[in-house]
Amino acid sequence: MASQISITSTLPLNDRTSIPQFGFGTCASATCTQSALCALKQGYIHLDTAQIYKNEAETGQAIAQSKVAHDRIFVCSKLWEDMYTRQGAVDGVSQSLQKLGLKQIDLYLIHNPRPGPKARHESWLGLQDCVEKGWVRSIGVSNWSPAHIEQLMKEDGVNILPAVNQVEFHPWQQQRELTKYCKEKGIVVVAYSPLTQGKRLGDKVIAQMAEKYARTPAQVVLRWCLQKGVVIIPKSDKESRIVENKGIFDWELKDDDVEVIDRLDEGQKGNVGEWDPKMPNPTVAMHERKQDPSHQSSITLERSANPTNNGLWRPNIQVLHIPGEADDDGLVNTEESARHVPGVLNMHMADRLDHICGRPRLRGRHSDGPFMLGGIDQRDGDGWVSWLTSFDGLKRW
Ligand SMILES: NC(=O)c1ccc[n+]([C@@H]2O[C@H](COP(=O)([O-])OP(=O)(O)OC[C@H]3O[C@@H](n4cnc5c(N)ncnc54)[C@H](OP(=O)(O)O)[C@@H]3O)[C@@H](O)[C@H]2O)c1
Repeated sequence: MASQISITSTLPLNDRTSIPQFGFGTCASATCTQSALCALKQGYIHLDTAQIYKNEAETGQAIAQSKVAHDRIFVCSKLWEDMYTRQGAVDGVSQSLQKLGLKQIDLYLIHNPRPGPKARHESWLGLQDCVEKGWVRSIGVSNWSPAHIEQLMKEDGVNILPAVNQVEFHPWQQQRELTKYCKEKGIVVVAYSPLTQGKRLGDKVIAQMAEKYARTPAQVVLRWCLQKGVVIIPKSDKESRIVENKGIFDWELKDDDVEVIDRLDEGQKGNVGEWDPKMPNPTVAMHERKQDPSHQSSITLERSANPTNNGLWRPNIQVLHIPGEADDDGLVNTEESARHVPGVLNMHMADRLDHICGRPRLRGRHSDGPFMLGGIDQRDGDGWVSWLTSFDGLKRW
Protein backbone atom coordinates (compact mmCIF):
# COMPACT_ATOMS: atom_id res chain seq x y z
CA MET A 1 0.00 0.00 0.00
CA ALA A 2 1.21 3.49 -0.86
CA SER A 3 0.80 4.64 2.76
CA GLN A 4 3.43 2.12 3.82
CA ILE A 5 6.20 3.97 1.98
CA SER A 6 8.77 5.30 4.44
CA ILE A 7 11.79 7.60 4.13
CA THR A 8 14.00 4.54 3.61
CA SER A 9 11.70 2.60 1.27
CA THR A 10 13.37 1.36 -1.88
CA LEU A 11 12.31 0.43 -5.39
CA PRO A 12 13.91 -2.59 -7.07
CA LEU A 13 16.27 -1.92 -9.97
CA ASN A 14 16.58 -4.21 -12.99
CA ASP A 15 20.13 -5.18 -11.96
CA ARG A 16 18.87 -6.77 -8.74
CA THR A 17 19.88 -3.84 -6.57
CA SER A 18 17.52 -1.15 -5.29
CA ILE A 19 17.17 2.61 -4.99
CA PRO A 20 15.68 4.63 -2.11
CA GLN A 21 12.47 6.18 -3.39
CA PHE A 22 13.10 9.43 -1.53
CA GLY A 23 16.28 11.39 -2.11
CA PHE A 24 17.84 14.82 -1.85
CA GLY A 25 18.80 17.03 -4.81
CA THR A 26 21.88 19.24 -4.72
CA CYS A 27 21.80 21.12 -8.03
CA ALA A 28 22.61 24.82 -7.59
CA SER A 29 22.79 24.40 -3.84
CA ALA A 30 24.48 27.43 -2.36
CA THR A 31 25.33 25.52 0.81
CA CYS A 32 25.73 21.97 -0.44
CA THR A 33 27.68 20.42 2.44
CA GLN A 34 25.48 22.03 5.06
CA SER A 35 22.24 21.21 3.22
CA ALA A 36 23.16 17.60 2.44
CA LEU A 37 24.36 17.11 6.02
CA CYS A 38 21.06 18.50 7.29
CA ALA A 39 19.18 16.11 4.98
CA LEU A 40 21.21 13.13 6.25
CA LYS A 41 20.53 14.16 9.84
CA GLN A 42 16.86 14.31 8.98
CA GLY A 43 16.94 10.72 7.78
CA TYR A 44 17.33 11.19 4.02
CA ILE A 45 19.54 8.34 2.75
CA HIS A 46 19.85 9.19 -0.95
CA LEU A 47 21.89 12.11 -2.35
CA ASP A 48 21.84 13.25 -5.97
CA THR A 49 24.86 15.09 -7.35
CA ALA A 50 26.60 15.44 -10.73
CA GLN A 51 29.97 16.44 -12.16
CA ILE A 52 28.45 19.56 -13.66
CA TYR A 53 26.99 20.73 -10.32
CA LYS A 54 30.60 21.02 -9.16
CA ASN A 55 29.59 19.91 -5.70
CA GLU A 56 30.64 16.26 -5.57
CA ALA A 57 33.39 17.17 -3.07
CA GLU A 58 30.91 19.07 -0.89
CA THR A 59 28.48 16.16 -1.09
CA GLY A 60 31.31 13.83 -0.05
CA GLN A 61 32.11 16.12 2.89
CA ALA A 62 28.50 15.90 4.05
CA ILE A 63 28.70 12.10 3.92
CA ALA A 64 31.99 12.11 5.80
CA GLN A 65 30.69 14.50 8.45
CA SER A 66 27.44 12.65 8.97
CA LYS A 67 27.31 9.88 11.50
CA VAL A 68 25.59 7.66 8.97
CA ALA A 69 27.60 4.67 7.74
CA HIS A 70 28.65 5.18 4.11
CA ASP A 71 27.05 1.95 3.03
CA ARG A 72 23.69 3.18 4.31
CA ILE A 73 23.77 6.24 2.04
CA PHE A 74 22.83 5.90 -1.62
CA VAL A 75 24.73 8.29 -3.90
CA CYS A 76 23.99 9.13 -7.51
CA SER A 77 26.31 11.15 -9.71
CA LYS A 78 26.34 11.92 -13.43
CA LEU A 79 28.86 12.11 -16.23
CA TRP A 80 29.00 15.44 -18.03
CA GLU A 81 29.17 15.63 -21.76
CA ASP A 82 32.81 16.66 -22.12
CA MET A 83 33.66 13.11 -20.92
CA TYR A 84 31.45 11.18 -23.35
CA THR A 85 33.99 8.62 -24.62
CA ARG A 86 34.71 5.14 -23.25
CA GLN A 87 37.91 6.28 -21.54
CA GLY A 88 36.30 9.61 -20.61
CA ALA A 89 33.55 7.81 -18.72
CA VAL A 90 36.10 5.72 -16.81
CA ASP A 91 38.12 8.85 -15.99
CA GLY A 92 34.94 10.71 -15.04
CA VAL A 93 33.84 8.02 -12.62
CA SER A 94 37.35 7.88 -11.17
CA GLN A 95 37.26 11.64 -10.56
CA SER A 96 33.80 11.43 -9.00
CA LEU A 97 34.95 8.66 -6.65
CA GLN A 98 37.86 10.77 -5.56
CA LYS A 99 35.78 13.91 -5.02
CA LEU A 100 33.06 12.04 -3.17
CA GLY A 101 35.61 10.15 -1.10
CA LEU A 102 33.88 6.85 -1.83
CA LYS A 103 35.08 3.44 -2.96
CA GLN A 104 31.91 2.81 -4.93
CA ILE A 105 29.11 4.99 -6.26
CA ASP A 106 25.65 3.45 -6.08
CA LEU A 107 24.33 4.89 -9.32
CA TYR A 108 26.04 6.73 -12.16
CA LEU A 109 24.16 8.35 -15.03
CA ILE A 110 24.93 9.75 -18.44
CA HIS A 111 23.60 13.24 -17.80
CA ASN A 112 21.96 13.82 -21.16
CA PRO A 113 21.75 12.38 -24.66
CA ARG A 114 22.88 15.52 -26.44
CA PRO A 115 26.31 14.71 -27.79
CA GLY A 116 24.85 12.08 -30.11
CA PRO A 117 24.58 8.32 -30.62
CA LYS A 118 28.29 7.56 -30.90
CA ALA A 119 29.06 9.48 -27.72
CA ARG A 120 26.13 7.83 -25.92
CA HIS A 121 27.31 4.38 -26.99
CA GLU A 122 30.96 4.94 -26.09
CA SER A 123 30.28 6.51 -22.73
CA TRP A 124 27.86 3.69 -21.91
CA LEU A 125 30.61 1.14 -22.64
CA GLY A 126 32.81 3.14 -20.27
CA LEU A 127 30.17 2.96 -17.54
CA GLN A 128 29.85 -0.79 -18.11
CA ASP A 129 33.63 -0.98 -17.59
CA CYS A 130 33.17 0.84 -14.28
CA VAL A 131 30.54 -1.68 -13.17
CA GLU A 132 33.01 -4.44 -13.95
CA LYS A 133 35.72 -2.68 -11.93
CA GLY A 134 33.30 -2.37 -9.01
CA TRP A 135 33.51 1.44 -9.09
CA VAL A 136 29.78 1.87 -9.63
CA ARG A 137 26.98 -0.49 -8.74
CA SER A 138 24.22 0.58 -11.08
CA ILE A 139 24.24 2.68 -14.22
CA GLY A 140 21.53 4.66 -15.91
CA VAL A 141 20.68 7.64 -18.05
CA SER A 142 19.11 11.04 -17.66
CA ASN A 143 16.98 13.05 -20.04
CA TRP A 144 16.92 10.22 -22.56
CA SER A 145 13.90 9.38 -24.66
CA PRO A 146 12.76 5.78 -25.27
CA ALA A 147 14.28 6.11 -28.76
CA HIS A 148 17.70 6.89 -27.30
CA ILE A 149 17.51 3.84 -25.03
CA GLU A 150 16.25 1.57 -27.83
CA GLN A 151 19.08 2.71 -30.06
CA LEU A 152 21.69 2.13 -27.35
CA MET A 153 20.50 -1.40 -26.71
CA LYS A 154 21.19 -2.31 -30.36
CA GLU A 155 24.81 -1.16 -30.23
CA ASP A 156 27.81 -3.53 -30.06
CA GLY A 157 28.99 -4.51 -26.62
CA VAL A 158 25.99 -3.12 -24.76
CA ASN A 159 24.96 -5.70 -22.20
CA ILE A 160 23.49 -3.64 -19.39
CA LEU A 161 20.05 -2.05 -19.66
CA PRO A 162 19.88 1.38 -17.96
CA ALA A 163 18.59 0.92 -14.42
CA VAL A 164 17.01 4.37 -14.24
CA ASN A 165 16.09 7.33 -16.40
CA GLN A 166 16.18 10.61 -14.49
CA VAL A 167 13.84 13.17 -16.05
CA GLU A 168 11.76 16.18 -15.08
CA PHE A 169 8.55 14.88 -13.55
CA HIS A 170 5.76 16.54 -11.53
CA PRO A 171 1.99 17.03 -11.88
CA TRP A 172 2.39 19.46 -14.79
CA GLN A 173 4.79 17.28 -16.76
CA GLN A 174 3.84 13.67 -16.11
CA GLN A 175 5.96 12.04 -18.84
CA ARG A 176 3.21 9.52 -19.53
CA GLU A 177 4.71 7.97 -22.65
CA LEU A 178 8.18 7.80 -21.16
CA THR A 179 7.04 6.34 -17.83
CA LYS A 180 4.96 3.73 -19.65
CA TYR A 181 8.00 2.72 -21.69
CA CYS A 182 10.27 2.63 -18.63
CA LYS A 183 7.77 0.53 -16.70
CA GLU A 184 7.60 -2.00 -19.53
CA LYS A 185 11.40 -2.24 -19.56
CA GLY A 186 11.85 -2.31 -15.79
CA ILE A 187 13.62 1.05 -15.81
CA VAL A 188 12.92 3.16 -12.71
CA VAL A 189 11.98 6.79 -13.37
CA VAL A 190 13.71 9.30 -11.11
CA ALA A 191 11.80 12.57 -10.94
CA TYR A 192 13.96 15.66 -10.96
CA SER A 193 12.50 19.10 -10.22
CA PRO A 194 9.59 17.32 -8.50
CA LEU A 195 8.68 20.62 -6.84
CA THR A 196 8.75 22.42 -10.20
CA GLN A 197 11.68 24.39 -8.73
CA GLY A 198 9.00 26.06 -6.64
CA LYS A 199 7.35 27.60 -9.71
CA ARG A 200 3.92 25.92 -9.62
CA LEU A 201 3.40 25.47 -5.92
CA GLY A 202 0.82 28.27 -5.87
CA ASP A 203 -1.54 26.23 -8.07
CA LYS A 204 -5.21 26.44 -7.01
CA VAL A 205 -5.93 22.71 -7.22
CA ILE A 206 -2.84 21.91 -5.17
CA ALA A 207 -3.82 24.58 -2.64
CA GLN A 208 -7.26 22.97 -2.24
CA MET A 209 -5.66 19.57 -1.72
CA ALA A 210 -3.23 21.02 0.77
CA GLU A 211 -6.13 22.42 2.75
CA LYS A 212 -8.10 19.20 2.54
CA TYR A 213 -5.21 17.08 3.85
CA ALA A 214 -3.80 19.77 6.18
CA ARG A 215 -0.47 19.54 4.38
CA THR A 216 1.63 22.05 2.42
CA PRO A 217 1.49 22.33 -1.40
CA ALA A 218 5.04 20.93 -1.60
CA GLN A 219 4.00 17.90 0.44
CA VAL A 220 0.94 17.29 -1.75
CA VAL A 221 3.03 17.43 -4.92
CA LEU A 222 5.76 15.17 -3.52
CA ARG A 223 3.22 12.71 -2.14
CA TRP A 224 1.49 12.55 -5.53
CA CYS A 225 4.87 11.75 -7.17
CA LEU A 226 5.52 8.96 -4.66
CA GLN A 227 2.11 7.45 -5.36
CA LYS A 228 2.98 7.48 -9.08
CA GLY A 229 5.81 5.07 -8.27
CA VAL A 230 8.74 7.31 -9.15
CA VAL A 231 11.82 8.20 -7.13
CA ILE A 232 11.89 11.86 -6.00
CA ILE A 233 14.90 14.05 -5.23
CA PRO A 234 13.63 17.46 -4.01
CA LYS A 235 16.32 20.05 -3.28
CA SER A 236 16.33 22.67 -0.56
CA ASP A 237 18.91 24.76 1.21
CA LYS A 238 16.52 25.53 4.05
CA GLU A 239 16.31 23.27 7.07
CA SER A 240 12.60 24.00 7.56
CA ARG A 241 11.89 22.83 3.99
CA ILE A 242 14.18 19.81 4.26
CA VAL A 243 11.99 18.82 7.20
CA GLU A 244 8.76 19.82 5.42
CA ASN A 245 9.62 17.81 2.32
CA LYS A 246 9.99 14.59 4.25
CA GLY A 247 6.54 14.99 5.78
CA ILE A 248 4.98 12.79 3.15
CA PHE A 249 5.08 9.32 4.62
CA ASP A 250 2.44 8.97 7.30
CA TRP A 251 -0.54 9.79 5.09
CA GLU A 252 -1.71 9.29 1.52
CA LEU A 253 -3.79 10.93 -1.19
CA LYS A 254 -7.04 9.13 -1.94
CA ASP A 255 -7.32 7.62 -5.40
CA ASP A 256 -9.87 10.18 -6.61
CA ASP A 257 -7.60 13.03 -5.47
CA VAL A 258 -4.68 11.43 -7.30
CA GLU A 259 -6.91 11.51 -10.38
CA VAL A 260 -7.69 15.20 -9.87
CA ILE A 261 -3.96 15.95 -9.81
CA ASP A 262 -3.45 13.67 -12.81
CA ARG A 263 -5.60 16.13 -14.76
CA LEU A 264 -3.07 18.94 -14.23
CA ASP A 265 -0.72 17.37 -16.79
CA GLU A 266 0.36 19.82 -19.49
CA GLY A 267 2.85 17.51 -21.15
CA GLN A 268 5.97 19.22 -22.43
CA LYS A 269 4.36 22.64 -21.94
CA GLY A 270 4.53 22.02 -18.20
CA ASN A 271 8.34 21.76 -18.33
CA VAL A 272 9.95 24.18 -15.90
CA GLY A 273 13.54 23.45 -16.89
CA GLU A 274 14.71 23.52 -20.43
CA TRP A 275 14.83 19.91 -21.39
CA ASP A 276 12.54 18.05 -23.71
CA PRO A 277 13.50 14.37 -23.40
CA LYS A 278 11.71 13.65 -26.66
CA MET A 279 13.98 15.96 -28.57
CA PRO A 280 17.52 15.07 -29.48
CA ASN A 281 18.53 18.59 -28.64
CA PRO A 282 16.19 20.46 -26.42
CA THR A 283 18.37 23.53 -26.50
CA VAL A 284 17.94 23.73 -30.23
CA ALA A 285 14.28 22.90 -29.92
CA MET A 286 13.83 25.88 -27.69
CA HIS A 287 15.70 28.17 -30.00
CA GLU A 288 13.88 26.94 -33.05
CA ARG A 289 10.57 27.97 -31.61
CA LYS A 290 11.81 31.52 -31.69
CA GLN A 291 14.25 31.70 -34.51
CA ASP A 292 13.94 33.54 -37.74
CA PRO A 293 12.71 30.95 -40.28
CA SER A 294 15.20 32.24 -42.82
CA HIS A 295 18.01 30.93 -40.56
CA GLN A 296 19.96 33.93 -41.73
CA SER A 297 19.45 36.76 -39.32
CA SER A 298 20.22 37.08 -35.68
CA ILE A 299 17.43 36.79 -33.16
CA THR A 300 16.97 37.85 -29.61
CA LEU A 301 15.99 35.35 -26.96
CA GLU A 302 13.84 36.92 -24.28
CA ARG A 303 14.55 34.51 -21.48
CA SER A 304 15.14 35.28 -17.90
CA ALA A 305 17.98 33.60 -16.07
CA ASN A 306 17.03 30.24 -14.65
CA PRO A 307 18.15 29.87 -11.05
CA THR A 308 18.89 26.17 -11.39
CA ASN A 309 21.42 26.62 -14.12
CA ASN A 310 23.14 29.74 -12.97
CA GLY A 311 21.67 31.92 -15.66
CA LEU A 312 22.73 29.70 -18.52
CA TRP A 313 20.89 31.66 -21.15
CA ARG A 314 21.13 35.25 -20.22
CA PRO A 315 18.35 37.49 -21.45
CA ASN A 316 18.82 39.01 -24.86
CA ILE A 317 21.46 36.66 -26.17
CA GLN A 318 22.03 37.11 -29.86
CA VAL A 319 21.83 33.83 -31.72
CA LEU A 320 22.52 33.03 -35.33
CA HIS A 321 21.43 29.71 -36.77
CA ILE A 322 23.21 28.50 -39.85
CA PRO A 323 22.96 25.17 -41.58
CA GLY A 324 26.18 23.21 -41.37
CA GLU A 325 27.77 19.83 -41.79
CA ALA A 326 29.36 17.83 -39.04
CA ASP A 327 30.90 14.62 -37.99
CA ASP A 328 30.21 12.84 -34.76
CA ASP A 329 31.40 15.19 -32.08
CA GLY A 330 29.73 18.32 -33.37
CA LEU A 331 32.97 20.23 -32.95
CA VAL A 332 33.96 20.08 -36.59
CA ASN A 333 30.48 21.21 -37.27
CA THR A 334 30.91 24.38 -35.29
CA GLU A 335 34.27 25.20 -36.75
CA GLU A 336 33.10 24.61 -40.27
CA SER A 337 29.98 26.61 -39.71
CA ALA A 338 31.80 29.50 -38.14
CA ARG A 339 34.02 29.80 -41.16
CA HIS A 340 30.94 30.75 -43.13
CA VAL A 341 30.13 33.63 -40.84
CA PRO A 342 31.54 36.88 -42.15
CA GLY A 343 33.65 38.73 -39.66
CA VAL A 344 34.90 35.83 -37.52
CA LEU A 345 38.49 36.74 -36.70
CA ASN A 346 39.65 33.90 -34.51
CA MET A 347 38.44 31.00 -32.42
CA HIS A 348 39.81 28.93 -29.58
CA MET A 349 38.56 26.07 -27.44
CA ALA A 350 36.53 27.12 -24.45
CA ASP A 351 38.70 26.09 -21.53
CA ARG A 352 35.84 24.76 -19.41
CA LEU A 353 32.17 24.04 -19.62
CA ASP A 354 30.68 26.68 -17.45
CA HIS A 355 27.02 25.95 -18.08
CA ILE A 356 24.73 23.21 -17.00
CA CYS A 357 23.04 22.93 -20.37
CA GLY A 358 24.11 24.41 -23.64
CA ARG A 359 27.28 23.23 -25.21
CA PRO A 360 29.89 25.92 -25.39
CA ARG A 361 32.85 24.60 -27.29
CA LEU A 362 34.68 27.49 -28.85
CA ARG A 363 35.18 31.07 -27.96
CA GLY A 364 36.39 33.62 -30.42
CA ARG A 365 36.33 37.13 -31.71
CA HIS A 366 34.08 38.52 -34.36
CA SER A 367 34.66 41.94 -35.86
CA ASP A 368 31.71 43.16 -33.75
CA GLY A 369 32.79 41.56 -30.50
CA PRO A 370 33.52 38.31 -28.70
CA PHE A 371 31.39 35.22 -29.19
CA MET A 372 30.89 31.76 -27.84
CA LEU A 373 30.00 28.96 -30.16
CA GLY A 374 28.49 25.52 -29.73
CA GLY A 375 27.91 22.58 -32.03
CA ILE A 376 24.74 20.61 -31.91
CA ASP A 377 24.10 17.04 -32.91
CA GLN A 378 20.73 16.94 -34.59
CA ARG A 379 21.22 13.58 -36.23
CA ASP A 380 18.20 12.04 -34.56
CA GLY A 381 16.12 14.99 -35.65
CA ASP A 382 15.92 16.88 -38.83
CA GLY A 383 19.48 17.54 -39.86
CA TRP A 384 22.47 19.41 -38.63
CA VAL A 385 22.29 22.81 -37.09
CA SER A 386 25.02 24.99 -35.74
CA TRP A 387 24.44 27.87 -33.50
CA LEU A 388 26.45 30.79 -32.38
CA THR A 389 25.84 32.71 -29.24
CA SER A 390 27.28 36.02 -28.41
CA PHE A 391 27.24 36.92 -24.76
CA ASP A 392 28.88 40.29 -25.00
CA GLY A 393 27.69 43.24 -26.93
CA LEU A 394 27.25 41.71 -30.36
CA LYS A 395 24.26 43.44 -31.87
CA ARG A 396 23.87 41.91 -35.29
CA TRP A 397 25.71 39.58 -37.61
N1 LIG B 1 19.34 15.15 -14.47
C1 LIG B 1 19.09 16.41 -14.71
O1 LIG B 1 19.25 16.92 -15.83
C2 LIG B 1 18.57 17.27 -13.58
C3 LIG B 1 18.00 18.52 -13.86
C4 LIG B 1 17.51 19.26 -12.79
C5 LIG B 1 17.60 18.78 -11.49
N2 LIG B 1 18.17 17.56 -11.24
C6 LIG B 1 18.29 17.01 -9.86
O2 LIG B 1 17.00 17.06 -9.23
C7 LIG B 1 17.09 17.83 -8.04
C8 LIG B 1 15.78 18.54 -7.77
O3 LIG B 1 15.41 19.39 -8.83
P1 LIG B 1 15.53 20.98 -8.76
O4 LIG B 1 16.58 21.37 -7.78
O5 LIG B 1 15.66 21.45 -10.17
O6 LIG B 1 14.09 21.47 -8.29
P2 LIG B 1 13.07 21.13 -7.11
O7 LIG B 1 13.62 20.15 -6.16
O8 LIG B 1 11.78 20.86 -7.78
O9 LIG B 1 12.91 22.53 -6.40
C9 LIG B 1 13.95 23.14 -5.71
C10 LIG B 1 13.52 24.59 -5.47
O10 LIG B 1 12.31 24.61 -4.70
C11 LIG B 1 12.54 25.29 -3.47
N3 LIG B 1 11.87 24.48 -2.45
C12 LIG B 1 12.31 23.34 -1.86
N4 LIG B 1 11.41 22.89 -0.98
C13 LIG B 1 10.38 23.75 -1.00
C14 LIG B 1 9.15 23.82 -0.30
N5 LIG B 1 8.83 22.91 0.60
N6 LIG B 1 8.33 24.86 -0.56
C15 LIG B 1 8.66 25.79 -1.47
N7 LIG B 1 9.81 25.78 -2.17
C16 LIG B 1 10.67 24.77 -1.93
C17 LIG B 1 14.04 25.35 -3.29
O11 LIG B 1 14.43 26.55 -2.65
P3 LIG B 1 15.35 26.54 -1.32
O12 LIG B 1 16.59 25.76 -1.65
O13 LIG B 1 15.60 27.98 -1.08
O14 LIG B 1 14.51 25.88 -0.26
C18 LIG B 1 14.54 25.37 -4.73
O15 LIG B 1 14.50 26.69 -5.23
C19 LIG B 1 18.27 18.76 -8.33
O16 LIG B 1 18.73 19.41 -7.17
C20 LIG B 1 19.24 17.82 -8.97
O17 LIG B 1 19.87 17.01 -8.00
C21 LIG B 1 18.64 16.79 -12.28
